[in-house]
Amino acid sequence: MSSTRRELLSDIEAFLGRTGMTPTKFGIAAVNDGHLVANLRKGNSITLKTAEKVRAYLEKQRAAGPVSESSPETSSQKRIVLIIGGGIAAYKCLELIRRLRERGIAVRAVMTKAAQEFITPLSVGALAGDRVFMELFDLDDEREIGHIRLSREASLIVVAPATADLLAKMAGGHADDLASCVLMATDKPVLVAPAMNPRMWLNPATRRNVALLRGDGVHFVGPGVGEMAERGEAGPGRLAEVPELIEAIQSLLTHPTPAGSPSPLWGGDRGGGKPYIQSPAIPPSPTLPHEGGGGVAGAPGPLAGRRVLVTSGPTHEPIDPVRYIANRSSGKQGAAIAAEARALGAEVTLVLGPSAIADPPGVRVVRVETAQEMLAATRAALPADIGVFAAAVADWRVAAQSSHKLKKGTKTLPRLELVENPDILKTIASERPGIRPPLVIGFAAETQNVVEYARGKRKTKGADWIVANDVSPQTGIMGGDRNTVHLVTAEGVESWPELDKGEVARRLMRRAAERLAEITAKA
Ligand SMILES: Cc1cc2nc3c(=O)[nH]c(=O)nc-3n(C[C@H](O)[C@H](O)[C@H](O)COP(=O)(O)O)c2cc1C
Repeated sequence: MSSTRRELLSDIEAFLGRTGMTPTKFGIAAVNDGHLVANLRKGNSITLKTAEKVRAYLEKQRAAGPVSESSPETSSQKRIVLIIGGGIAAYKCLELIRRLRERGIAVRAVMTKAAQEFITPLSVGALAGDRVFMELFDLDDEREIGHIRLSREASLIVVAPATADLLAKMAGGHADDLASCVLMATDKPVLVAPAMNPRMWLNPATRRNVALLRGDGVHFVGPGVGEMAERGEAGPGRLAEVPELIEAIQSLLTHPTPAGSPSPLWGGDRGGGKPYIQSPAIPPSPTLPHEGGGGVAGAPGPLAGRRVLVTSGPTHEPIDPVRYIANRSSGKQGAAIAAEARALGAEVTLVLGPSAIADPPGVRVVRVETAQEMLAATRAALPADIGVFAAAVADWRVAAQSSHKLKKGTKTLPRLELVENPDILKTIASERPGIRPPLVIGFAAETQNVVEYARGKRKTKGADWIVANDVSPQTGIMGGDRNTVHLVTAEGVESWPELDKGEVARRLMRRAAERLAEITAKA
């Protein structure tokens, strides 16, 4: 079917859905042919003259009165514009539209060209009970500057699935198709639900785009973590489930925050975060760490030409859309190490859990939330010459994360079943040569028997060095600016005096640069 005929049929279906008119009656009224709709549905062609007559009839009906208005909802009803991107998860939108309409939320759909490869405008229009908008240069719509009208008449713009491409367009301010024009022209809150392959989601370009968008006040829901459509692929990138999407939409319809103003709701410096937002927390990043995909390289120093990978910060393990298990790590020590490695000339990737600290200049920062995301991002950043694993990764996560907020007031208390998280240090340290960094440095935060535990940890995890510290509350190390560490190596234990975290980072990275030079000389 040609796109013109497809659009015409989509308009007719929407009209039928809205008015309840039968296809036969429509055909007779529009062109005196009771079989018109049936023929179009079969994919049969029609003449241009017939198409023009149908359009004229639709136009006349539109102008005639409220029943024929293209708006299917009453004035008190909330309306969203749903922008459907070209991703494998586009099919989930059909269910989303149904569930939204059941709740009295009217949906006006905009489909990108790529989205039409995954689901048909016909299904979308039939479920939305309205025509589907696809073309920017549509004479009928643009007589009334349709893209501006679309972007203003809704209470909320939802992008689902938001492809990597759409995120890039939004972050870059592009406006070369209907979807991007609507997004550029709107003054309404915007909620995006990303869905893509984990590598695409963790790609530095996507990380930058997400950071920019969060800084602009765009709201995010998801992505979730799990299996991908591609065989053998798993990680962050799954479209949020429909109930989660609905909860996010309803919440924003109740407490709207216009696009361009960071949300005052939960999340604070997480840049417009919402209770149900489980995606990697990314604060606005005024200084973008790098251009291109590989960090900034080329500075002189003992680590020039070397790659250093650092993990830092806590992880957040979701319990339900609003609660999570966390720890007190600030991410300061790892960030100081990353900055120092950069100062010594290395190309540095910092995989950072939820933390309010700013991106160290010149360092490629990948912000993640959970242990699983941290492992995926760490793997994606390999190979590296030195791996420093300073993150306080949660040992456990909740086995079955609830997609709804757990409610109190029920007879039984909720029971949280925990499962073990991946051990990132051990996993990377046991990789084969070529993947495993030649120098692996782990951190051990303990509250008792610090050195003894660190010695054991060095062996069981397969690390070359362990930096051990006492993080008992009275030390003030977790979250503080100073640190007292013991460096445990195969040769023995060195206890360093109390130093600020920057000085710990300087000493450690100078030692690491020397050790790496020795390893390279031996190889
Ligand atoms: C089979 C297939 C599945 C795809 N799935 C996704 C996806 O889930 N997420 C994504 O960001 N891109 C995906 N892409 C790539 C997008 O379709 C492509 O970037 C397209 O230009 C996006 O256009 P849009 O952003 O205008 O919708 C997929 C491509 C193909 C061929």
